[in-house]
Amino acid sequence: MNALTDKFGRKHSYLRISLTERCNLRCTYCMPEQGVPVSPRAKLMTPDEVFQIAKHFVDLGVTKIRLTGGEPLVRKDFGMILEKLTALDVELSITSNAVIVDRYIDQLKAAGIKTINISLDSLHPAKFKTITRRDNFEQVKRNIDLLVQEGFNVKLNCVLIKGFNHNEIIDFIAYGRENPITVRFIEFMPFDGNKWNKEKLVSHKQILDQVHSRWSETCVERIADSANDTSKNYRIKHFKGTFAIISTVTNPFCDSCNRIRLTANGRIKNCLFSSSEVDLLTTFRNGGEISPLIAQAIQAKASMRGGMVSDESFSDPKNYSQNRSMIAIGG
Ligand code: GTP
Ligand code: 5AD
Ligand code: SF4
Repeated sequence: MNALTDKFGRKHSYLRISLTERCNLRCTYCMPEQGVPVSPRAKLMTPDEVFQIAKHFVDLGVTKIRLTGGEPLVRKDFGMILEKLTALDVELSITSNAVIVDRYIDQLKAAGIKTINISLDSLHPAKFKTITRRDNFEQVKRNIDLLVQEGFNVKLNCVLIKGFNHNEIIDFIAYGRENPITVRFIEFMPFDGNKWNKEKLVSHKQILDQVHSRWSETCVERIADSANDTSKNYRIKHFKGTFAIISTVTNPFCDSCNRIRLTANGRIKNCLFSSSEVDLLTTFRNGGEISPLIAQAIQAKASMRGGMVSDESFSDPKNYSQNRSMIAIGG
């Protein structure tokens, strides 16, 4: 069997590489207030190591690579890493907070990147500041407009938190009336130190209820999913943009999971929620063979959410508090 096929028959053709654990924002749902200990630079993959390890995955069958962080663009050698990866026969993409994306437009185009996923949780500057603990709203908004103007497909990631931004669902969708963007509402997920609790979650159903309170059933069209989509996609009739829901907690999509993650310090995470990691970088640096380690990580993958199979799994924090903070996973 192929090294990237797990025991449930899922083929892992989509590699997400986190380039850094650092970020220029401090989103409360993504990292603990006190920050996270960051790996010393020597423990992070160098540009060449990112390339060589990514090449192993591509040789095994990976066809899509997404660069994540922290914020991938804060890595000074981001441009060099991107350029190296263009030598691989894969679709490249990036998830960013857009704070400094304007500096990279030409390089992103040169790398053939067509779609960019951007985090944005509020359309109000003050709320943006509360959630990110930084004052960059205008800059981010300007950069989103710039990306659209420059012809990128832009997907906005909006993590919904009850009592904070759940009342912005309609405004976010309305933003797509004239803008050809996709807004993806993401159910708040628990990670180490992010103060998750079920009461703060806005569920798939609650999101759709709000949509239907504004637009009639006939106006809201369901768009067919692509294979391996994490989101359920919708369009309001005649809108240029679309919206989508990523419902990991109330309506998971693990059956069609094709994702594998590589952390900035060179470890495989076989699932967003799996706390067990397989270190590739040490073996790679010692000149060892990493393909068996990749196969081992894939074979160890649980059927669903790192083993959190039932809804009740979320009631016990020990099921997710051993996992890294999202800032060190990259989404
Ligand atoms: P494309 O589908 O390639 O556009 O990207 P994506 O949605 O996988 O990438 P992005 O980095 O924008 O992810 C947005 C959010 O979707 C993540 O932060 C997670 O909240 C969620 N997500 C992405 N991948 C997974 C996954 O494998 N499992 C789960 N449960 N959630 C995921
Ligand atoms: N729950 C859901 N999504 C999260 N993200 C970060 N933390 C969480 C969380 N706790 C998402 C953000 C960002 C992506 C990289 O990760 O939407 O766009
Ligand atoms: Fe895949 Fe894990 Fe996400 Fe489910 S929770 S889709 S198994 S990465």
